[in-house]
Amino acid sequence: MTMDETDATDATENAATSERERLLAAAEIFVREALAHDSSGHDWSHIERVRRIAQVIAREERADSFICELAALLHDVADVKIAGDTATGLARVRGWLDAHRCDPPTTARVMEIIATMSFAGGERPPMTTLEGKIVQDADRLDAIGAVGVARAFAYGGAKGRALHDPAQAPRERMTAAEYHSQPTPTINHFYEKLLLLKDRMNTPYARQMAERRYQFMLTFLDQFYAEWDGRS
Ligand code: ADP
Ligand code: NI
Repeated sequence: MTMDETDATDATENAATSERERLLAAAEIFVREALAHDSSGHDWSHIERVRRIAQVIAREERADSFICELAALLHDVADVKIAGDTATGLARVRGWLDAHRCDPPTTARVMEIIATMSFAGGERPPMTTLEGKIVQDADRLDAIGAVGVARAFAYGGAKGRALHDPAQAPRERMTAAEYHSQPTPTINHFYEKLLLLKDRMNTPYARQMAERRYQFMLTFLDQFYAEWDGRS
């Protein structure tokens, strides 16, 4: 390559980098606004953590960090709890990407991840791309461990639910409607979902993180029952 060609390549790369930074900064503003009035556990701090965890996993798994970061930022905008329905939410995200001149391949990759993550009803289709697997892992990791415990009780509190009720056993099989409608004590949510998530990680690095967070939740539950019974 001649000097001029090297300069030209550098200039193209710099333009691509600043283009990515421009999109990420704009996405941040868009998402902060979209989630401003949420009380279902999908606040901005959740997005920030998912973005951070996704970047850490992306580095470890040698994935495309920009796609992970952009999808992590946008992943909850199309959630039914925020958008009302998934189709409207997905159209909103696509409209936003188009309006911000996101290039078509990036738009397609990000939309595929978000559509799979927002899938409501029945079995969720599996993630097909490494970046999708990573963002899904990051989202699931944020539901477990110390932050997961805090989020579960925050959610239960917002719904006016009991912390714990020894007379009410966790539900093993349930329909999606039952899952979302029945008032269950928050401790039950650990058995119905949170303790199961470590076996649903897609990537090896996330599995290691999930194992640590899982062990912490077991410790938390032991201590919780000990205190509940006045044993500790
Ligand atoms: P996602 O959209 O990622 O599947 P949810 O919307 O189900 O997650 O939950 C958002 C947060 O609220 C998570 O931290 C989750 O553990 C918590 N949460 C959801 N349902 C319950 C519940 N019934 N009891 C306690 N916490 C819950
Ligand atoms: Ni999320």
